[in-house]
Amino acid sequence: MTQMSGASDVPDMGRRQFMNLLTFGTITGVAAGALYPVVKYFIPPSSGGVGGGVTAKDALGNDIIVSEFLATHNPGDRTLAQGLKGDPTYIVVQEDKTIANYGINAVCTHLGCVVPWNAAEEKFICPCHGSQYNAEGKVVRGPAPLSLALAHATVDNDKVVFTPWTETDFRTGEDPWWA
Ligand code: FES
Repeated sequence: MTQMSGASDVPDMGRRQFMNLLTFGTITGVAAGALYPVVKYFIPPSSGGVGGGVTAKDALGNDIIVSEFLATHNPGDRTLAQGLKGDPTYIVVQEDKTIANYGINAVCTHLGCVVPWNAAEEKFICPCHGSQYNAEGKVVRGPAPLSLALAHATVDNDKVVFTPWTETDFRTGEDPWWA
């Protein structure tokens, strides 16, 4: 897991591999353990979902069901889910109690800590070195150099599907640094 010391991106890579292993373990079973160091090079980034996207999953690895999710979440909530490449990604509940069409990647752009949402401050505040991001994930205080990455979020069949965001970052008007 992410280190409070945030010393490097090595822990982050470990986490990604772990998440990928979680995703594919059920498919490849025991072979994943033996072959994983080899297999991981052949797993395309979009694996784990349908049509280039991934279905948002909860902490247990189950698909998030939107109708159930919205019954227990309030406008303004930002809730962690497993997103593209296994990255922890926030699902945003809008004021009209619908799911926002963007998800916010929770990996701090400084050294890769997972950044928690602070509802009282209405900001994402990184516990590692104090970087802050506004409610849409735009960086408002360093040392983080960049805003949190975005993913498209769409609701399909009562599930949230994340797909890569390659268009202009609506928060900055610039090209996405992560694409
Ligand atoms: S990892 Fe350094 S501020 Fe987030």
